[in-house]
Amino acid sequence: MTAIKTNPRQSLTVVDNRTGKTYELPIKDNSVLATDIKNIKAQPQDERPENETSQGLRVFDPAYMNTAVIQSKITYINGQDGILRYRGYPIQDLVHKSNFLETAYLLIYGELPTSSQSSTWESEIMHHTYIHSDIEGMFKSFRYDSHPMSMLTSAFATLGAFAPEANPSLQGQKLFTKAASGDLEALQSLDKQILRIIGKAPTLAAASYRMRQGRPFNRPAQGLSYTGNFLYLLDHLSGHEYKPHPVLEKALDALFIIHADHEVNCSTATVLQVGSSLVDPYSVMAAGCSALYGPSHGGASESAIRMLMEIGSPENVPAFMQKVEKRERVLVGFGHRVYKNVDPRSTAIRELAEEVFKVTGRNKLLDTALTLAQYARESEFMRSRNLYPNVDFYSGLIYQAMGFPLDFYPVLFAVPRCVGWLAHWRQQMLTPSGVKIWRPRQLYLGHGEREYVEAEKRKEKPDAAIFDAPVQVQHGGDSKRNNLATYRDERGSVTKAKL
Ligand SMILES: CC(C)(COP(=O)(O)OP(=O)(O)OC[C@H]1O[C@@H](n2cnc3c(N)ncnc32)[C@H](O)[C@@H]1OP(=O)(O)O)[C@@H](O)C(=O)NCCC(=O)NCCS
Repeated sequence: MTAIKTNPRQSLTVVDNRTGKTYELPIKDNSVLATDIKNIKAQPQDERPENETSQGLRVFDPAYMNTAVIQSKITYINGQDGILRYRGYPIQDLVHKSNFLETAYLLIYGELPTSSQSSTWESEIMHHTYIHSDIEGMFKSFRYDSHPMSMLTSAFATLGAFAPEANPSLQGQKLFTKAASGDLEALQSLDKQILRIIGKAPTLAAASYRMRQGRPFNRPAQGLSYTGNFLYLLDHLSGHEYKPHPVLEKALDALFIIHADHEVNCSTATVLQVGSSLVDPYSVMAAGCSALYGPSHGGASESAIRMLMEIGSPENVPAFMQKVEKRERVLVGFGHRVYKNVDPRSTAIRELAEEVFKVTGRNKLLDTALTLAQYARESEFMRSRNLYPNVDFYSGLIYQAMGFPLDFYPVLFAVPRCVGWLAHWRQQMLTPSGVKIWRPRQLYLGHGEREYVEAEKRKEKPDAAIFDAPVQVQHGGDSKRNNLATYRDERGSVTKAKL
């Protein structure tokens, strides 16, 4: 006898034990709507009014561990199986067969471009590589040793000031969202900003680098590829017909493909959060840069190399790993929120590393890195937590072999990631139902309503913890002589400064 298969209902039946009521929540694309859960209401039972129980059940998901915030057609990641696809194409295929600008087109517009689409796209991007010369002045106003990410973040925000016609705060908040209904002018404006941002990103990045080097800025070169032009902007000093080494140009292009998008990672979520306020795309890019700069995200490749330099040589690996296993240190370049197996980007990057080292010479830290990776593979602590090398573990080794300074690594990540941010921003602006501002909820655990206490009646809490008031800070700019001096403060009383 064969069992008759019936299609199970695509829904979730939930019983609220507080009320005895049963709810059926539809399941679509293996998800339930958080707003359906809000329909589950109860009368408060001896609980804080701040729980707002009668207004509906809330979903608590700190750090977005299991919350889908967008419907997207851009990038698919399967962390269990180590899969990364842009618009359906496996990352390995794109690294081997595509180039960065073609991949950028794919990510933003959904299909690989035809030859003629490709050549228009490339020439438009290269046409938009120039920046207004006043922006160079912004770079020059930075301290000589400023971190290039501080400069790049500011540069994107500054760029917005040069495009008031692309600012929804000035031109009307539907400036870009009108494009969703097919408004050609809105779509042109939207796509023009995309060309401008992708075109200018290497120019701004290179300016931050040249500023640190104390070298004059180069103007974009004609006739070079996207990464070739970037290398020119970074490195050209004198002479004619500059051509970067083809292996390095190609490796950088491949690294750009690998870093172009990674679905709703921290910086892309930031981009979408900020974008949902309908602010201009330049401010959106600046926000993306800020999120990317953190050591848990795009700052990891820089931190990974600093860590390898601190370890120094392979024989010091066991001692360092013992610290990791005692949870005194984090093994930077390992672990990922989504990949709990292999990070497919790290596999592609290892192949690239071999090619680059043939030209640049082997990175001296490679032996330490490989010993560390081997030790980590065998470590019970690492294995039980599914901690494997991520993209940043190897990318830093390539950047270092190519001679980039450590603090430039996040910039080398931000330039290609602009493409992923823009793909997501465009998808957001073109949402057929319109853009709703992103406004998460909270569980309020603080005080209930309190009566204001006049200053003279206030007392310090006897059980106050160190966090409950500002701690005394050191004034770095004060000299010892100044600290020993007496002076009248703003209220006129004589004060002796404390050391
Ligand atoms: C990427 C990262 C932020 C992901 O964080 P996450 O998904 O929130 O993972 P968790 O912090 O929940 O980690 C799970 C466990 O592994 C440990 N862990 C995670 N990454 C670790 C690392 N790199 N080194 C040592 N322990 C690590 C955590 O301490 C935790 O241990 P516990 O369960 O005993 O408390 C994290 O793995 C990390 O900080 N890695 C180093 C920075 C890095 O390389 N970032 C680039 C990412 S591409």
